[in-house]
Amino acid sequence: GEQLAAFRAEDGQAYVVDAYCPHLGANLGTGGRVVGNCIECPFHGWQFRGEDGKCTRIPYAEKVPDFAKVRTWPSCEVNGMLLVWYHCEGVAPTWAVPEQREITTKEWVFRGQTEHFVDAHIQEIPENAADTAHLDFLHGPAILGGSDLRYTRSRLWDFMKHNWKAEWQLEPEPNKHCSHLLVQHSATIFGKHFSLMDLTVSARQVGPGLVFLIFKHAFLGQGIILQTVTPLEPLLQKVVHIIYYQKNVPAIIPKFILRAECIQFERDITIWNNKKYLSKPLLVKEDSGIQKHRRWYSQFYSEKSRRLPVQKEDLDW
Ligand code: FES
Ligand SMILES: [Fe+2]
Repeated sequence: GEQLAAFRAEDGQAYVVDAYCPHLGANLGTGGRVVGNCIECPFHGWQFRGEDGKCTRIPYAEKVPDFAKVRTWPSCEVNGMLLVWYHCEGVAPTWAVPEQREITTKEWVFRGQTEHFVDAHIQEIPENAADTAHLDFLHGPAILGGSDLRYTRSRLWDFMKHNWKAEWQLEPEPNKHCSHLLVQHSATIFGKHFSLMDLTVSARQVGPGLVFLIFKHAFLGQGIILQTVTPLEPLLQKVVHIIYYQKNVPAIIPKFILRAECIQFERDITIWNNKKYLSKPLLVKEDSGIQKHRRWYSQFYSEKSRRLPVQKEDLDW
């Protein structure tokens, strides 16, 4: 629900500021221009410094008032992404996003990305990791069956199955904002183990909307999918998956992994787009991860977190 403008200053540093110019509200992201370490508004040419948002120049005014400022957002550039810290009470960042060394050193290279819009509360998406019971049921049927839930369980694809062994855990201090899902994937064809599809996935959730999924294959190398979830509106999320993979592995391998992940993810999307959030779900003992996940995720809300005006079920967006 925020409009932001991001720019790279001449010193190479990336900055994020409010998109709307405090002068008369023009959008700095549309026609704005980088001048030195400032962004210049396209309407009357006021210039704002990326570092602190201070207005440094008004082309037609004798004096720049002290209070002329645009709001700046704490941001960091890491793993090829520009990330913004959001806190309803304006608290400064309390943790940082780790660097994935292989991306920085270019041992792993960019091999594609997917983008989806999901009609759901942001919390539904990460909650999937703690919901290990859905893996075999929703993600068990072969990816050959696609993601249309009317056909995924069709007998046609019955000869192939995905098997998942998953364990979801919280990380201890000082990484209380992280949780971790370890998944062993294997596939069977006509009941026989097909080792070419053996894959270990370590999915580390860092904060409320970022996941590092590291893939390790016995002989087809390793790489990472970075997943970001960005709330755009109440109950509308933009989800991006970006894959980086070992440079010496043919691009077809990571492309296949991303495609397979995408098919599986779109099965979840159909569920999310059509489900409702239950604050008191009917759970069995084996579902205990879900309540644990909800307690863990509640750390990302604070007193002023926005709520939907008609919200009965006590969820912030
Ligand atoms: S609206 Fe930006 S300078 Fe006037
Ligand atoms: Fe899922």
